[in-house]
Formats: sequence, C-alpha cells, structure tokens
Amino acid sequence: MKAVCWHGSHDVRVDTVPDPKILNPGDAIIKITSTAICGSDLHLYDGYIPTMKSGDILGHEFMGEVVEVGPNVKKLKVGDRVVVPFTISCGNCFFCKRDLWSLCDNSNPNSGLVEKMYGHSPSGLFGYSHLLGGYAGGQAEYARVPFADVGPLKVADGLSDEQVLFLTDIFPTGYMAAENCDIEPGDTVAVWGCGPVGQFAIRSAFMLGAERVIAIDHIPERLQLAEKAGAEIINFEEVDAGVALKEMTGGRGPDRCIEAVGMESHGMDAMGVVDKVKQAVRLETGRPHALRQAIVACRKGGTVSIPGVYGGFVDKIPMGAIVNKALTLKSGQTHVHRYLRPLMERIQKGDIDPTFVITHRLNLEQASHGYEIFKHKKDNCIKVVLKP
Ligand SMILES: NC(=O)c1ccc[n+]([C@@H]2O[C@H](COP(=O)([O-])OP(=O)(O)OC[C@H]3O[C@@H](n4cnc5c(N)ncnc54)[C@H](O)[C@@H]3O)[C@@H](O)[C@H]2O)c1
Ligand SMILES: [Zn+2]
Ligand SMILES: [Zn+2]
Repeated sequence: MKAVCWHGSHDVRVDTVPDPKILNPGDAIIKITSTAICGSDLHLYDGYIPTMKSGDILGHEFMGEVVEVGPNVKKLKVGDRVVVPFTISCGNCFFCKRDLWSLCDNSNPNSGLVEKMYGHSPSGLFGYSHLLGGYAGGQAEYARVPFADVGPLKVADGLSDEQVLFLTDIFPTGYMAAENCDIEPGDTVAVWGCGPVGQFAIRSAFMLGAERVIAIDHIPERLQLAEKAGAEIINFEEVDAGVALKEMTGGRGPDRCIEAVGMESHGMDAMGVVDKVKQAVRLETGRPHALRQAIVACRKGGTVSIPGVYGGFVDKIPMGAIVNKALTLKSGQTHVHRYLRPLMERIQKGDIDPTFVITHRLNLEQASHGYEIFKHKKDNCIKVVLKP
C-alpha cells in the first residue's frame, strides 16, 4: 500500500510499504477514506519528538471502512464506516475505567522508555514515535487498529467524511480544552493559537457558555476565521498580547486561558530568541512563549488549560505567578473516546459543522506538499485533508 513516511526533519515521502496485518485477536484493519495533517504532526516534521525512525508511517487523524477483523472483535464488522480516536486505549485498565483514555496503561509497548522521563507512560498513539508505541499511522491506504471494539465509533447515517473526520482529534481536543476551563457564566476565555485546535477551542468555549472569547495569533486568515465564530482578536505581531488582554478585560485579565500553540510558539521578545536557540540545540525541548504569556495574563484564581503539546522540558515557567495568583493548570492528550459520541451528536444536531476549518483537499500522493504548506501557512492553509 501507499503511506506517508517520515524520513527525517522536513522530509516526508509517500512510499510503498507492506499492507498491515491483524497481529492480535482484537485488531481490525481499516481502509482509510480520509485522513488529516495535524499541528502535532508538525512537531514530528520539525524533528522535535525523539525516537522517530526513518520509514515510520505518520498520521493519527483518520477514518474509513472496516475490511478485516480479528477473531475477538465483537462490535465491528466488515463494511462498517468508522472514525478512529488518535489515542489507543484498552478499555479495561484503571485509567480507561475512569474515562481517562489517553492515560491507558496497556497500549504503549515501549512504556519503559517514557517512564524514565515522565515517571509513567501515557497511552500509545497512532503514528507518533516509538516513545508512544511505535504504531503505524493513518496517513496511508490502510491501518491496523488495536482494541478495535474499544476505540472506533460507527459513523451515523447521513454524515460525510469531512463532517466527522475531526472527531478523531482536533474537535474533541478543542472541546476538552474548553471543558477543562470550567467556564462560568460571564467568563472571558482567551485562546492562544488560531490553528485548527484553537478554532475548535474557540467554538467550544462559546458552546460551553463563555460570554467573550479573545483569540490571539498573527496569521490574518486564521484570525479572520476566529472572528467569524464571534471571537475578538489580537494580532501579537501588531500589539503586545499581554497588554492588550489587560486593556480588554478592565485590568483583571481573562478568566480562562487556553494555550493551543504548543512547543513551537513564536516569541516576540528577547526570551523568544533565547528559546529558539536553545530549542535548536536541544537545550530545551520546547519554546513555551505562549504558555508563559497565558500564565501571566490569566486573572487571579483563573484557569490555564493547555492542549498545546510539549514533549520534554521547557525553561522559565513563571511558577511564582501560578502559586501567588492561585491558578489552576489543566492539560493532557485528549481523552478522545470520551467525546466521540456526544460530539457526533452535536454535529448531527447542527450545533457545529467541523468542515469550516478545511482549506485544502489533496491526494495522499501530495502529502509532502500538504506538510509544506501547513507548516509554513502558505496558500492560506489552515487544515489539510488527504484522500488516499
Ligand atoms: N492535547 C492534544 O491531545 C492535542 C491534539 C491535537 C493537537 N494538539 C496540539 O495543539 C497545538 C496546536 O495544533 P494545531 O493543529 O492547531 O497547530 P498549528 O500549528 O496549525 O497552530 C498553532 C498556531 O499557533 C500560532 N502561534 C504561534 N506562536 C504563537 C504565540 N506566541 N501566540 C499565539 N499564537 C501563536 C501559530 O501562528 C498557529 O496559527 C499543537 O501543539 C498540537 O500538537 C494537542
Ligand atoms: Zn492531531
Ligand atoms: Zn486502558
């Protein structure tokens, strides 16, 4: 089959690789009909996630048709059309039973590696390094899906691929980021990053009752899309976002802050330059500029929700501000399984049409171009869907 393979920093190619096979009795093989490129893939593309090997198949946002099931699979059958969560979960461990799916204890065969760094291992993820399981990803014609009775959800009749594809990651991710804010009536929510995750966080914040949402980025078309959803906007290249937020909230600061940028944020000040150099030579693994700004901007007693991905260690987190302003920090890879059904229902009810974020539809063969334009925000690119 054809698959998008990682060959090093800024080098992804569509290779011919062996078709996936059932390895465990609970596996299913999915013929992929739609898949997408995520901001998290850019961290791999830019070479910031360790333990990638040349030839690894990328992709963790994918859906398609079941073409084969292992002997223990009860709920899925050949021909079912499913969306597949990017987190791989067993459904039976301490964490899965507590609805904490991205923390599954049984899906990362390389957990020993991660334990050295994090103390404990999160769940395995599709197409996201050997540190997180070494699973082949879904930017391919076919994928093997472990625990097939636990993760994949059948798509309701009448919904198109593009309407439901983002249930695999970015819609639940934006939604969980907003839910983690515990929004109260009258709240102002500030969202750093107007990429796909930020866009879903903005819309979810409104769905969960935010009175105002303020969106921060420097890419005009992304800010425009945020504005369309009802957000007020700040272009951090034109004004100091911290100062602007204070002015826009009567000096108090936003009640809830969502950091949807992650480890490659742009810094406009001297500290931003230091981060860039230190990350380049791996003295720190992320550039936490937006995170620092969110912590400093947040109102006293507020919440900072961090869907943005970090891999290792970052410098100069203003711990003093966290403690002395009594902030609550919440984060995590998304517990996608928790949100699949309720968010599919929201799509069916018409609360949201996730297709708003798609700017590019490409063939799988054009994946390398897709990564390039998404990474550099060329051609007004916000979200790329690949059709195998
Ligand atoms: N927690 C999860 O489960 C999960 C799931 C999916 C994605 N993510 C993460 O969410 C983050 C965003 O993903 P995406 O797909 O939207 O990526 P993206 O790269 O398209 O979006 C990031 C946006 O942040 C903006 N940005 C950069 N520096 C900034 C700053 N200092 N202030 C404000 N905005 C700034 C960029 O211009 C860009 O528009 C990534 O780190 C990704 O890995 C997490
Ligand atoms: Zn993703
Ligand atoms: Zn589990």
